[in-house]
Amino acid sequence: MDDELPFDPEPDEIRRRFASLEMAIINHDRLYYGESLPEISDWEYDQLKKEYGELLKKYTFLRARMRTLRVGDDRKSGFRKVPHRVPMLSLGNTYNIGELEAFVQRIYDNADGAASFVIEPKIDGAALSLIFENGLLIQGITRGNGSEGDDVTRNVHTVIGLPHFIGVKDVPQLLEVRGEIYIALADFEEINEQRQRDGLDVFANARNLAAGSLKLLDPTMARGRRLRFIAYEIGACSRAFSTHEEVLRFLADCEIPTNSYRLAQKFADIWAAVEYYDRERKFYPFATDGAVIKVNEHVLRDKLGTISSAPRWAMAYKYPPERVFTRLLSIELNVGRTGIVAPVAHLEPIHICGTVVRHATLHNANEIARKGIRIGDYVILEKAGEVIPAIVGIVLERRSSDTKPFIYPEFCPACGAPLKRLDGEVAYRCLNPNCPPQISRRLEHFASKQALDIDTLGPQRIGQLRDAGLLEQFSDIFRLSKAALLQLSHIRDKSANALLEAIEIGKQRPLWRLLHGLGIPHIGVQTAKLLARRWASMDKLMAATREELRCCDGIGDIVAASVHSFFTDVANRQLIGELAELGLSMDDLVEKQNSIEGTSFFTGKNFVITGTFHAITREELRQRIEQVGGRVRESVSAKTHALIVGKNPGGKLADAERLGISKLDEGKLLTLL
Ligand code: IVH
Repeated sequence: MDDELPFDPEPDEIRRRFASLEMAIINHDRLYYGESLPEISDWEYDQLKKEYGELLKKYTFLRARMRTLRVGDDRKSGFRKVPHRVPMLSLGNTYNIGELEAFVQRIYDNADGAASFVIEPKIDGAALSLIFENGLLIQGITRGNGSEGDDVTRNVHTVIGLPHFIGVKDVPQLLEVRGEIYIALADFEEINEQRQRDGLDVFANARNLAAGSLKLLDPTMARGRRLRFIAYEIGACSRAFSTHEEVLRFLADCEIPTNSYRLAQKFADIWAAVEYYDRERKFYPFATDGAVIKVNEHVLRDKLGTISSAPRWAMAYKYPPERVFTRLLSIELNVGRTGIVAPVAHLEPIHICGTVVRHATLHNANEIARKGIRIGDYVILEKAGEVIPAIVGIVLERRSSDTKPFIYPEFCPACGAPLKRLDGEVAYRCLNPNCPPQISRRLEHFASKQALDIDTLGPQRIGQLRDAGLLEQFSDIFRLSKAALLQLSHIRDKSANALLEAIEIGKQRPLWRLLHGLGIPHIGVQTAKLLARRWASMDKLMAATREELRCCDGIGDIVAASVHSFFTDVANRQLIGELAELGLSMDDLVEKQNSIEGTSFFTGKNFVITGTFHAITREELRQRIEQVGGRVRESVSAKTHALIVGKNPGGKLADAERLGISKLDEGKLLTLL
């Protein structure tokens, strides 16, 4: 793109700059909305839009040749197109307090001073419209080009926490709920960790993944992305509301997840709310990139109307992403549990968002090449929606002559084995199973909180035991003796006893913990739980055929093949044998008890919970049901065995009644448990 304009530009220079801005905006719109793969940050994009608008305002002759910039277009082939009953608009935005104040002032002027405002967090996800007819969720539509969107109803049915039926009295015959689809930051991290373990490219950020996942053609894949929804407006509706606050309260009554909000009248209070959300958002489980300031009174909204593609009654104040520059000192390679060799940037320590950052992942060789990073470069570190700051680029102007390119090695930096890229993977792997850091990482995983949860057996202690030659494979953990431990430095009687005790406890952990700890490719916590619940004993699981594995609800081809191949490997069978001999529990005690007594009411059945309970929280209830072999689902379907009904049940009750599903109250349930 052309550089910035000189102080006193010629008309031709202005036209050129204007055209190049226009082209860049169209291109970035396509990348952001169409492909969910933006190449620049929101902040940079907003700067382009701002300069474009300023040129238009200043040089009126540009208007003659201006192209109509759309609100973006996220329509994709493969989906049915549905016209929006009411257009889905975008929002005007600013990074500037003065502009926000001018916006508020304009509204006061139009309202003769009598206006109130609602301030809400601006969620960084993808817009979605949900259509409820007589309370039943019948359709989900993306924003598309604002006039028509894609019918993504099948994916919407996988959204966590969304009622499929609204059971409140006097539900409007037509209710269009608008809101944002997002992926919780913790879920996003977990999804990426799994991808990294599988040698796949990691996703850049939660917002792009949410937008992309909503438009997946396969709903099973969409379900794996753990999409969630927060409502912030209504569209077409057969009932009138007089204020936005009333709308938000109504949506909350319908058990539709809604945004937090604050009410204000004076600008000082509006600004205090904007600042309040900037502080609070650091604790939110999802990414936010600003606050939205909206007129509360619907009558006033109607009076203000819209300009081009945005309403005059709302504005987004966007928080600038925190960005810092620091020097990249070196790139080190980390060998992970599965052999993936990942580049990690070592940085000159720097403060960002309240923490000191020394390292940042560079993901893989492609990332380093794409960003053109050299050792010694000044890199731009940004923390926006992401939990971990990311290197978003380099400061070319500050590059000195002594920077060096990073050359990816051909051999494992730890064991010297050749590095390979497997088919379809971006990561390089060391395929030597005896590579020392791989062994350490596997042992760490085995003992970790997510697996056998052996207290005090963390990375440091494992390193010490390995240095002393006491630890090579999982079974060695259970052969450790007190005498051997006392030979090590910094281990006294007390800590040796504590470790041995923790190891004993580890032996008796539920089967899923052992299954997860073994590090079978593609087996995360959820799949391990599923396998343990279905087979209840290691022997039975080891004897399962690929076909039997595949028939288990929730297990696909890839997992079935992985489990089967793990247990047909002679070395793995021998390892399991050794662990059993050393006293590890190979049965799921709870499952075993159920099968001995033959009375488990819960095994293999689906339950749905609604309302609140006296003696137990919903989460405890879920855990108790899962412990005895039941499954807890988010929404009622024909496959639901019973609905567990507490105080103030939600729309799920009506759902269950419609489908003739039986109900259990707290008393009955606790007796059964
Ligand atoms: S109101 C006509 N409220 O931000 C105004 N939008 O950049 C409708 N967004 O398209 C939007 N949080 O997808 C509104 N609390 C909130 C929001 C919100 C996120 C999204 C929405 C909108 C985009 C504009």
